[in-house]
Amino acid sequence: MKYDSIVPDVKYIGVDDLDIDLFEGQYEVPLGISYNSYLILDEKIAIMDTVDATKTAEWEKNLEEALGGKTPDYLIVQHLEPDHGGSVQFILEKYPNMIAICSQKAVAMFKRYFEADFSARIQVVKEGETLSLGQHTLQFLMAPMIHWPEVMMTYDQKSKILFSADGFGKFGALCKEEEDPEHEQSDQNAPSGEGHSGWACEARRYYFNIVGKYGAMVQNLLKKAATLDIQQICPLHGPVLSEDLGYYIGLYDTWSKYEPESQGIFIAYCSLHGNTAKAAHALADILKEKSDVKVSIADIARDDMHECVEDAFRYDRMVLCAPTYDGGIMPIMEDFINHLRIKTYQNRKVAFVENGTWAPAAGKKMREQMEAMKNITIVEPMVTIESTVKAKTIEDLTVLAEALL
Ligand code: FEO
Repeated sequence: MKYDSIVPDVKYIGVDDLDIDLFEGQYEVPLGISYNSYLILDEKIAIMDTVDATKTAEWEKNLEEALGGKTPDYLIVQHLEPDHGGSVQFILEKYPNMIAICSQKAVAMFKRYFEADFSARIQVVKEGETLSLGQHTLQFLMAPMIHWPEVMMTYDQKSKILFSADGFGKFGALCKEEEDPEHEQSDQNAPSGEGHSGWACEARRYYFNIVGKYGAMVQNLLKKAATLDIQQICPLHGPVLSEDLGYYIGLYDTWSKYEPESQGIFIAYCSLHGNTAKAAHALADILKEKSDVKVSIADIARDDMHECVEDAFRYDRMVLCAPTYDGGIMPIMEDFINHLRIKTYQNRKVAFVENGTWAPAAGKKMREQMEAMKNITIVEPMVTIESTVKAKTIEDLTVLAEALL
């Protein structure tokens, strides 16, 4: 494994999960996911988080190999969600003298997750407190709601590593990164080296769908991180980041401020009989003919909904195209808008294309729902397709395209 030794006395002991079908029961992970865990070997030995319960045995093997017969003293519990806390009970029972270090908020969660009473073995830490392992001093940073309330991050003052919990996490198993570090869509803004180009795509989908609601908390964390000399970032999912950290931190800053990352237009459509789809693609073609603006288009019923959420946040403009259904909006578009609302979509320009054969209503309802979000600018005119795309529809789409540009 590429990260076996991050620095000589900090080892990677995490595991890949290629068996999982949906992460958190909802997110597609075609390249699996990693549950990262680390071991700091010093006069005192600390394990940084555990792994999902489905991978306990593999993790235990990695841990024992890295320990080389030694006994760990501390389990640092940065996050208790089961993908990281799933082996906590196992490891505390295996090493009965080991102390668990966690935030105050995690204490109640211990009782909820584990039948065994570990209260006598929990040491609560607060913001800025430190724990000396000998050479290494761990400094704890509370990071509530990134992305659960008990989350904390840990800065190792010796190695200058930030253990960032879910922060800077990414979908995809690490063995897939090693096979082909540039395997995903390239990112033209990425610096060269270290597989950056593949990082942003799946890290962005991870961020907006999992952490996206908590931008203010991420901003607070970034302010704290700015006071530290960070040489490497060790997240709980995805690769260890060791070069050009400004690139990753810059993206997190943009994302957590809800600022668009790229100039471009995302067209999200759904279609009952193909006519709204035809209009959406016609609009994309007109936009491309008239400019070199980046246009991304997705069928929200068939493409990955969470990738659509990612693209909605990525670009500065979005067009929603939907048929009228039961006097309202086709349900899959309602679902998409609801995803955006939950993730506090804001600060974007939005336009609408509706379809209706006898009483078009989707446009008005989409508009009402989007206007309820923060700092949304509506781009006029709304285009109404009367059942099928006609010459008049193309004229109207052309006017909308000009307004969008
Ligand atoms: Fe990777 Fe919030 O768990």
